[in-house]
Amino acid sequence: MKKLYVNPDEKLGRISPEIQGHFSEHLGRCIYEGIFVGEDSEIPNINGLRTDVVEALRAIRVPVLRWPGGCFADEYHWMDGIGEKSGRKKMINTHWGGVVEDNSFGTHEFMELCRQLGCKPYINGNLGSGTVREMSEWVEYMTFEGTSPMADLRRKNGREEPWQVDYFGVGNENWGCGGNMLPEYYANEYRRYQTYVRDYSEEHRIYRIACGPNGDDYEWTDTLMKMAGKFMDGLSLHYYTYPYEWENKTAATGFDLAEYYQTLKKTLYMEELVTRHSEIMDRYDPEKRVGLIVDEWGAWHQVEPGTNPGFLYQQNTMRDAMIAAVTLNIFNKHCSRVKMANIAQMVNVLQAVLLTEGERMVKTPTYHVFDLYKAHQGGQLVRSYVENETIGTDTAQVPQLHESVSMDEDGRLQVTIANLSADQGQEILLCPAGRKVSAAEGRILRGNTGDYNTFERPDAVKTEAYTEAAAGEKGVRFALPACSVVHLTVSLE
Ligand code: AHR
Repeated sequence: MKKLYVNPDEKLGRISPEIQGHFSEHLGRCIYEGIFVGEDSEIPNINGLRTDVVEALRAIRVPVLRWPGGCFADEYHWMDGIGEKSGRKKMINTHWGGVVEDNSFGTHEFMELCRQLGCKPYINGNLGSGTVREMSEWVEYMTFEGTSPMADLRRKNGREEPWQVDYFGVGNENWGCGGNMLPEYYANEYRRYQTYVRDYSEEHRIYRIACGPNGDDYEWTDTLMKMAGKFMDGLSLHYYTYPYEWENKTAATGFDLAEYYQTLKKTLYMEELVTRHSEIMDRYDPEKRVGLIVDEWGAWHQVEPGTNPGFLYQQNTMRDAMIAAVTLNIFNKHCSRVKMANIAQMVNVLQAVLLTEGERMVKTPTYHVFDLYKAHQGGQLVRSYVENETIGTDTAQVPQLHESVSMDEDGRLQVTIANLSADQGQEILLCPAGRKVSAAEGRILRGNTGDYNTFERPDAVKTEAYTEAAAGEKGVRFALPACSVVHLTVSLE
């Protein structure tokens, strides 16, 4: 029996709902096919957006969506994606498969997607190959209410009211695909470009996000905070999980236990990254005004055999569910600095929550983790600590249990806990300090490490009611099966 200690009276900060955000790029079948099929499609849609996909995403309460890239963002010219569709320019998507991008999904379509999802838009601007004027005019087009060339053009294209743009990224991976810049150079460019990302509305200030580091590039963070910290609201961080080297990625399915634990070890590295980047940010911004925005994270496996290597289409197993559970727990525990995170990517690309094939759609194990974790959105993180064992292999040691706990606005505890062990269950006693428990209920996601859903067996992995949590004098007693994720709602007296 392991104890999970919780102090309901020690509140450590609000868990921003945007920590459970998503990312959709013009990459492979994410936007086209996965989300947007066009109004004339036989696949049921509203204004061209797949109804099944929108409904599934609404159910997990997607809080924010990043678009149009990724690397694509620094080659995207927004004016190509507005106006009559027949007149929109076609371009080559050079980063992703060299396919023709017909620009039929542009600003208006993205904003319609956010409307249908009920989420905030996070637009990523083009600093790498775009001009200051182009970025500035995009913001004017989207957000200016009065009379101006761009606002008038928006009206001409059928949208009277300005949209609310909550988040705006000034370039993407400008240390790499976004221009191969040095940190000092980018910091200066960021200062210049963001100047023209104007706030046209007093009520809705745009939250400006600077391009942050790749993984453990602490020098990038230091330089950006030093040179441009006061001009930004957020600094991004990108980190992908793959078990061994970048050059030798492995298959999404059919892995052995050594690879399973190695993948989890690499996932847990996010804790160190967030901690160390936060420490640097603390030096320049002790009030924690600037958010750490982990706007690309997730598993990067080999593509599925026979699919376009540039489309990054991969399966998604219980191993990926564990990656999601651990990562979201880490973000919760760092909610004082991590203000948004966006899993890469939403549909059909990398660690997708949904996969589609023609008119069929499946929810991946990762989808179900987001479903379990949505109860944390907007809650107060409370102090928790779980007694643990170290498990794994000689080279990949990981803790067996991984948790985070928040308190919702009704004073209930929302607990998420994963048992990373592939073969060992674990009894747990949740002990809330100084409080008695009146009830506990929950849901569970469980399986073998390599289990996944297919179009033929879409519910091979799914959540179920979890009836084994027993509320008693000492707290809540429950048993976590091997390779499982549980969400418990605990009512206190
Ligand atoms: O998510 C896929 C790609 O990974 C993004 O386009 C880029 O920003 C990152 O390198």
